[in-house]
Amino acid sequence: MAKRRAVITAVGHYVPEKVLTNADLEKMVDTNDEWIQTRTGIRERRILEQGATSDLCVRATQKLLERRKIDATEIELIIVATVTPDMFFPATACIVQEKIGATNAWGYDLSAACSGFLYALVAGAQFIESGAYSKVLVIGADKMSSIVDYTDRNTCILFGDAGAAVLLEPSDNPHEGLLDHRLYCDGSGGAYLHMKGGGSLNPPTHETVDKRMHYIYQDGKSVFKVAVIGMAEVSAEIMKRNNLTADDVAWLVPHQANLRIIDATAERMGIDRSKVMINIDTYGNTTAATIPLCLSEWWERGELKPGQNIVLASFGAGYTWGAALVKWTLDNPKS
Ligand code: UT7
Repeated sequence: MAKRRAVITAVGHYVPEKVLTNADLEKMVDTNDEWIQTRTGIRERRILEQGATSDLCVRATQKLLERRKIDATEIELIIVATVTPDMFFPATACIVQEKIGATNAWGYDLSAACSGFLYALVAGAQFIESGAYSKVLVIGADKMSSIVDYTDRNTCILFGDAGAAVLLEPSDNPHEGLLDHRLYCDGSGGAYLHMKGGGSLNPPTHETVDKRMHYIYQDGKSVFKVAVIGMAEVSAEIMKRNNLTADDVAWLVPHQANLRIIDATAERMGIDRSKVMINIDTYGNTTAATIPLCLSEWWERGELKPGQNIVLASFGAGYTWGAALVKWTLDNPKS
C-alpha cells in the first residue's frame, strides 16, 4: 500500500508591529549597526509589547484558517514549538486551543529551541502518516524578548519575536509533502546555549534574578563553529539521501540565526543565494518561528510553487539540528 504523506495545505504568520532597529540598540548597549550587520546580517527585529507567545500563535493561526477557509473546530491536533511558553504549564498549545476555539483538538508543546519547528513538523507528520489524524496544526512561535537581557550586547542584538504556522493534511500521493528528514541532538552542546534559571535546577529566587539567570546565555563563537558545520552537513546529507543535485532544489529554507551560517549552508549544498530564503535582516532570530515565517512570506509573495523541492534546515540549542525535504503542493496565491 502506498504511504500516506503529510502535505502542507495552509500557512500563516504574524510579526508584531514594533520594530527594534540596530540604531535603537546602539542607544541601549555598546554596539553599532556596522558590527551587527557584518557579523549577523540583522538590521531590525520585531518586539511583542503586549501579550505572550500564545498571542503570536493565535494571530498566525487565524490567518492560516482564513486562507484554508476552515473553522478552528476542524483542527484535531495542535503542536506548539517554543522555548518561551506563556507559562510552564498549562502548555501553550492548550491556551491556543482555547483562544482559537479548536474544541475538537488536543495538543502539546515541544521544546527544541531553533530546531523546534522542524521537530514539530516531523512529529505532526507522523500523526498524519499513521492515519490517526487528518488536520494537524504545527506552530513555531517565540517571544524571545521575554528572555533576552537587553544589557548583554552578545545576545540582545540577535533575537526577535514572531509566530508562524502550517497545517498538515494527508495525501495519497507518496511523492509529495514531507518526503524525508534527518534530526539530531547532542546534549553536550547545552553548556554553550541555555537559560539557567526558572526550571527545577535553579527555581526562581531573588538570587537567580540578581544573577540574571532568567536570560539567554550564549557562547556565540562556540555555537557558531558547530552550527556552520551542523547545518551545512545535514542539508548536504538530505540531498545525497534523495539523489538531489543543486538544480533539483528550488529553495533552501534555513533557520535564520546568522547570515554567515546560512551562506555556508548554501555553499555546501552548491545552491545560489537567489534560491535561499533570507529574512534575518528584518526579523533577526525568532527561534522556532524562522522557518514557517519564511514559508508563509514566500508563499504569500507567490514564489513557492507546487512541485518544487524545498529543503528546510536548522541548528539550535541542545544542540538540536536537522533538515527536511518537502515537495511543495500548496497552490501559488497569485496564480
Ligand atoms: O539560533 C541558535 C543558534 N545560535 C547561533 O547559531 C548563533 C551562533 N553565533 C553567532 O552567530 C556569532 O558567534 C555571534 C553573531 C553571536 C557573534 O559573532 P562573532 O563573530 O562570533 O563575534 P564574537 O562573539 O567572537 O565577538 C567578537 C568581538 C568581541 O570583542 P573582542 O573580545 O574581540 O574584543 C566581542 O566582545 O565583538 C565583540 N562584540 C560586539 N561588538 C559590538 C560582541 N557583541 C558585540 C556587539 N557589538 N553586539
